[in-house]
Formats: sequence, structure tokens, C-alpha cells
Amino acid sequence: MRQIKTELLHGDCFEVLQSFADDSFDLIITSPPYADSRAKTYGGIHPDAYVDWFLPRAEQFMRVLKPSGTFILRTYL
Ligand SMILES: C[S@@+](CC[C@H](N)C(=O)[O-])C[C@H]1O[C@@H](n2cnc3c(N)ncnc32)[C@H](O)[C@@H]1O
Repeated sequence: MRQIKTELLHGDCFEVLQSFADDSFDLIITSPPYADSRAKTYGGIHPDAYVDWFLPRAEQFMRVLKPSGTFILRTYL
């Protein structure tokens, strides 16, 4: 029987992903902070600072995602 191994890593995705090789993920699903909407629930990032916060993480997503991989970003409307 085929076994599926699950590993949960807790931390800032920017730091955690640096320990993974390029092109090593088939799927990334993320629901990043909604800038400062719902800040009381999730903490917030000011909209003016959001792009600078998100881009280094997006670079890690792109680096570790296989060219054939799928990226899903959940947002808040
Ligand atoms: C908008 S919430 C997720 C909402 C969730 N999808 C839901 O439906 O309730 C954002 C989440 O990202 C986490 N988070 C914030 N910065 C992070 C980071 N740098 N790396 C990993 N997770 C982070 C927060 O702790 C929070 O749980």
C-alpha cells in the first residue's frame, strides 16, 4: 500500500521555505494576511507595506514550486 507522509512546519513561510530546494513543490495553497482587514483576528500589515512584505515570500513560492505546479491564493473580498 502506498503511504502518504504529512509534515507540519510552523514558522514564517519566508524562512521555512528557504530550507527547501528549487522546484520541489507540486502545490502551494496560501491564505496570507488581508493587509489590515481583520487585523484584530490575524494581525495586520499596513496596505502601504504589503507589497514589500509579500514580494520576498512570493519569490520563495515561485522558487520552490515546480514549473508544472499549482499556486492557489485565497483572498478576502
Ligand atoms: C488571513 S489569515 C488566514 C485565514 C484562514 N484562511 C481562514 O479562512 O480563517 C492569515 C494567516 O497567515 C498567518 N501568517 C501571517 N504571516 C505569515 C508568515 N509570514 N508565514 C506563515 N504564515 C503567516 C497568520 O498567522 C494567519 O493564520
